[in-house]
Amino acid sequence: MADRSFLTWPFFDDGHRRFAGRLGAWAAAHVPTLVADHDDVDGTCRKLVTALGSAGWLAVIAPEAHGGVRHGLDVRTICLAREILGRHDGLADFAFAMQGLGTGAISLFGSDDLKARWLPPVVAGENIAAFALTEPEAGSDASRIAMTATADGDAYVLDGRKTWISNGGIADQYTVFARTGEAPGAKGISAFLVPGDAAGLSVEDRIEVIAPHPLATLRFDRVRVPKSHLIGPAGGGFKVAMATLDVFRSSVGAAALGFARRALDEALDRSADRLIMGERLADLQMTQAKIADAATAIDASALLIYRAAWAKDQGAPRITREASMAKMHATEAAQTVIDDAVQLFGGLGVRSGVVVEKLYREIRALRIYEGATEVQKIVIARQTQATRAAERDAPAEAAP
Ligand code: CAA
Repeated sequence: MADRSFLTWPFFDDGHRRFAGRLGAWAAAHVPTLVADHDDVDGTCRKLVTALGSAGWLAVIAPEAHGGVRHGLDVRTICLAREILGRHDGLADFAFAMQGLGTGAISLFGSDDLKARWLPPVVAGENIAAFALTEPEAGSDASRIAMTATADGDAYVLDGRKTWISNGGIADQYTVFARTGEAPGAKGISAFLVPGDAAGLSVEDRIEVIAPHPLATLRFDRVRVPKSHLIGPAGGGFKVAMATLDVFRSSVGAAALGFARRALDEALDRSADRLIMGERLADLQMTQAKIADAATAIDASALLIYRAAWAKDQGAPRITREASMAKMHATEAAQTVIDDAVQLFGGLGVRSGVVVEKLYREIRALRIYEGATEVQKIVIARQTQATRAAERDAPAEAAP
């Protein structure tokens, strides 16, 4: 990691600083070899998960009692991990992140039995995990999901389709959200653990995207899971999904931050070496303006991300607004920083395989997944309006 000065911020303790140093060294030594075959995304993802698990890095996505390293999910550590891995490679970040998102609901709401059975293999890198919320007709409007889960004796039977599922097809376990019908809309949804080899679960379609990673549409055809696989209360699934996203949305921002830091470093090196019209590219004021904007945007992203993560780690029950701000700002800012880096590289910036070209493709999906920028704006505006409305409704207090 080039700029490590942010680690001195009061959001972190010495454990975080040591973690960042050790993971940074591990990633520099191992990630380039692990991702050498980017054409085989499934195989590369499996290799990455195995390596991350064997080296102990996945322990940060589970609570201490179930193979993890801290008492609960430490959002700052998860964000640091994504930032550092993201600096090295998008797929390395993805492999780490999905282990966390795919099990976050179990860590936060699962029964002790579910935690004991389904967290340790993910921490060890033996099982690949996935989070299955989105459906063809329910993306941003997540409460509209149509997949059904019908109680039948001691089991639930799941029917329907999920799409845009990261790790779809290679996952050993899915956290799946389905309509159990206790009430209409958001209050009639429940969360389930579904094993990847459950009878009736199949891959309908593999989805190719500009920065390849395992992605699929899944079909659930009378998939039977025991009632003990319910995660959280029946009818409480929407809140389980939203609370899980509260934890992991800041970490999407952190991955974008890692991409942006890498792009800025690449741009700094390139502009220092490149001569143009008799002077260094780095000495042109137009270049310096881009560098100043990028450095400021990166620090603003880091402040928002680690503020949200710190607040959650201090026990804030909800950090929905803070996480949305972090995710929105960091992903949008990273897109601009990376685009400017491509511009500074000139033609080389769009040549396949060049670092900034890969980052340009990697960043785009982050402005969409785990809640598009427009969804984050809805969340931020609603909460800001509600805070003001509550102030206006409160009995008048004496001015300070
Ligand atoms: N924590 C706990 N509870 C929450 C919550 C949170 N963060 N957010 C909302 N809730 C509760 C609300 O309090 C409310 O409960 P009450 O009625 O008891 O008060 C209930 O949930 C419904 O809340 P809303 O009325 O706000 O729900 P809504 O339908 O208007 O949702 C939304 C609004 C924010 C747009 C939401 O639908 C949303 O976040 N959409 C985006 C979905 C998303 O992020 N999908 C990502 C898929 S995963 C992915 O992309 C991963 C990948 O593949 C890489």
